[in-house]
Amino acid sequence: MQSHFKYYHGQLCAEDVPVAKLADEFGTPLYIYSRSHLIRQYRALADAMKSVKPHIYFAIKSNSNLAVIRTLADQGAGADVVSGGELYRARKAGVPAEKIVFAGVGKSVAEIDYALKEDIKFFTVESEAELHRISERAEAVGTKGRIAIRVNPDVDPKTHKYTSTGKAENKFGVDLTRAERAYEQALRLAGVEVVGMHMHLGSPIMTPTPYTEALQKVRPMCEQLKKDVPTFRHLDIGGGLGISYKAEQDPLDPRDFASAVLPLLHDLGLEVGMEPGRFIAGNAGILVTRVEYVKDSPSKTFIIVDAAMNDLIRPALYEAHHEIIPVVQTIERLFGDIVGPVCESGDFLAAERELPAVEEGDLLAVLSAGAYGFVMASNYNSRGRAAEIMVEGDRAELVRARETWDDLLRGETIPEW
Ligand code: LLP
Repeated sequence: MQSHFKYYHGQLCAEDVPVAKLADEFGTPLYIYSRSHLIRQYRALADAMKSVKPHIYFAIKSNSNLAVIRTLADQGAGADVVSGGELYRARKAGVPAEKIVFAGVGKSVAEIDYALKEDIKFFTVESEAELHRISERAEAVGTKGRIAIRVNPDVDPKTHKYTSTGKAENKFGVDLTRAERAYEQALRLAGVEVVGMHMHLGSPIMTPTPYTEALQKVRPMCEQLKKDVPTFRHLDIGGGLGISYKAEQDPLDPRDFASAVLPLLHDLGLEVGMEPGRFIAGNAGILVTRVEYVKDSPSKTFIIVDAAMNDLIRPALYEAHHEIIPVVQTIERLFGDIVGPVCESGDFLAAERELPAVEEGDLLAVLSAGAYGFVMASNYNSRGRAAEIMVEGDRAELVRARETWDDLLRGETIPEW
């Protein structure tokens, strides 16, 4: 599928807006999101899966900017949240509570109380202890928490060990045997209503096979629950659909995904939920950075830019590959690393690669930065977090201001003594 970040007359544009113009106006490092890309990806998935009328809960953790959430909410998307803060954001951005599901292994009492008050669609329950806590808190306020047990089907999603979640050794969900017990307990608890089952295998997943394997494993239990429990009507198959991070890599086509999983879903007769994050937001965003210095060493060249691991941690954390292209097209190449100003050797955006031959003051765009980019940014080395821009056609708007040094000090005090 076509990118929304393309060259026109040698100038990289975000939709119809020259990236260099945005960098000059708003400074760098700068995240830029294409609204049209977000919408296209959402629709492509909804369309591929339309025979089961999927409930698409956008995984807020992948990109929680209010403008991004609102764009998707306007298309009909719900939200998959994993904290009280994400629930708050989703509500502020206009996602109706009845389209919000709440996952995560460590929901606090305060978070559960807040979600019960909002009356969200359901909690994805990750342990028996959590089941009891939700029931107690709901009973205390005279309500019931709707729940789906997160089943860990022990399937290998064939991804980085830090982003695999559906294997037996991962902390997420409960194994199939425990899940059976958890459902039995849930049915006896006065403060919960059993409405479904949830699974999420990890990400990014590049073939439909882990999903079909997992579905085959959970189907018998779903069929049984549907028979025994009148309120059991949802199966949420999680997120994790892969995108291309490399020019030559084929993304997971939503139509191939759909034709593999739909046969395993149709006859179940359950409402189908999905929680894509990266698939929708990943290639909707770029991180624009300016070259500060070019430094030669005996073994390679270091391109030192103004974005760092605090802005985009994926290369440092997962050795993730992001394509990096010049904002003004050039064919000249050099071999080296692109590194940031942070005082860590792990602070790189690209390592040991053929790179565009840029010079001090030139701009570079880090691609596929729309998911798990800004949301994982930190203030390490007392660096303010980048600004975020949304574009659509020839319109561009600042959707989050760059953090100032004063922002960094907010809330801190020095004791009198
Ligand atoms: N649902 C649940 C329960 C999840 O835990 C996740 C991601 C998703 C949905 C969305 O997955 P997606 O469709 O975006 O792949 N920081 C890592 C990814 C961590 C994903 C955590 N859970 C990265 O940068 O690759």
